[in-house]
Amino acid sequence: MTKSSGPQGPVMCIVGARPNFMKMAPILRALAEHQPPLPALLVHTGQHYDAAMSDQLFADLRLPRPDINLEVGSASHAVQTAEVMKRFEPAMDEHQPSCVLVVGDVNSSLACTLVAVKKGVPVVHVEAGLRSYDRKMPEEINRVLTDQVADRLYTTERSATANLVREGIAEARVCFAGNVMIDSLLSNRAQARPVADTLRAAGMDPALVQGAQGWGVVTLHRPSNVDAADTLGPLLGVLGEVARQLPLVFALHPRTRANIERFGLGGLVDPARMLMLPPQGYLEMLGLMAGARLVLTDSGGLQEETTALGVPCLTLRDNTERPITVEQGTNTMVGRDVQAIRAGVAEILAGHGKQGRVPELWDGRAAQRIAADLYSWLLAGAR
Ligand code: UD1
Repeated sequence: MTKSSGPQGPVMCIVGARPNFMKMAPILRALAEHQPPLPALLVHTGQHYDAAMSDQLFADLRLPRPDINLEVGSASHAVQTAEVMKRFEPAMDEHQPSCVLVVGDVNSSLACTLVAVKKGVPVVHVEAGLRSYDRKMPEEINRVLTDQVADRLYTTERSATANLVREGIAEARVCFAGNVMIDSLLSNRAQARPVADTLRAAGMDPALVQGAQGWGVVTLHRPSNVDAADTLGPLLGVLGEVARQLPLVFALHPRTRANIERFGLGGLVDPARMLMLPPQGYLEMLGLMAGARLVLTDSGGLQEETTALGVPCLTLRDNTERPITVEQGTNTMVGRDVQAIRAGVAEILAGHGKQGRVPELWDGRAAQRIAADLYSWLLAGAR
């Protein structure tokens, strides 16, 4: 293939963990629909492997079967990262990609970045530049390191571009493209599963949330919130209080479920008011969130999705790497402060929740912009 016939080698697209899947689905579609199409290979590292954490999302998002599955599974950060690196290197050698494209901030994203950059293969980072400035978060380390060595960086908000420039990254490498996670949300919104179906599938009575009151949604999985009994206990306690006013649907990450059992905290909540569900599919979560009166979470993705849906969100963290969701969207940071959580909930239930507006370029076309830019950039020699 000559340069004028298009970029040489496939774009190797990496997914590993749940929040990667909804970001990659629109990118793969946009690469295929670009004229001329950009050949792509989908690599699943296997960081998330449960049916509920991985297979169900592949089906919901109509992601193709991965071309390569590295099957690394769970382990310590060091072992997981190292295993991805060991297993990804021969796959990259075999397929000679034009570039390696990573999304987000999970261990798999950094691991594949390190392998590629040391072999001189260009790295493309989608969702670059987000910073919590909290180096105790493993994701923050993954973000900072990936961005430092990436060759082309796509941002979701202007503050992310500014963060990168402050860190010495040439602005010419950065492209503000919008939010691919919102591409997925908008293209799947009409298929969102009704909450009654979701509860029935979990063996629960939909009437539990179908009173005039409606429901709230909870997700918690950050190690800083769920790995210690003296943090998780008070959080569950205040959630139990909220649930007495508004039924809550709690989609449990496997780590959180295991810790509630390990610490014996299950008794803190009334199961008829706090409905504990297994990890949900994408369409189930969309239905749960879109119809909710409020969302309580420590997830990054849910902060963005609630902003796009116009649903008030209370984030149980001290910082956010997605400040636009607070400045323009429906997000409020409440930390782990029980009083702040109570006050935030009271405000929303009184009808004074943030209305917000949808941020710039969260318009459903971010992946198309990325595909167009990536094509030109590869054609120009990826420099
Ligand atoms: C990872 C990401 C985090 C993301 C989260 C979404 C990193 C550093 N963290 O965290 O940014 O928000 O995914 O879910 O990459 N487990 C299962 N089944 C699975 C996967 C995990 O049971 O399919 C359990 C295992 O006990 C495992 C634990 O969950 O040890 C944690 O999984 P891991 O991939 O290490 O990190 P997450 O907490 O999921």
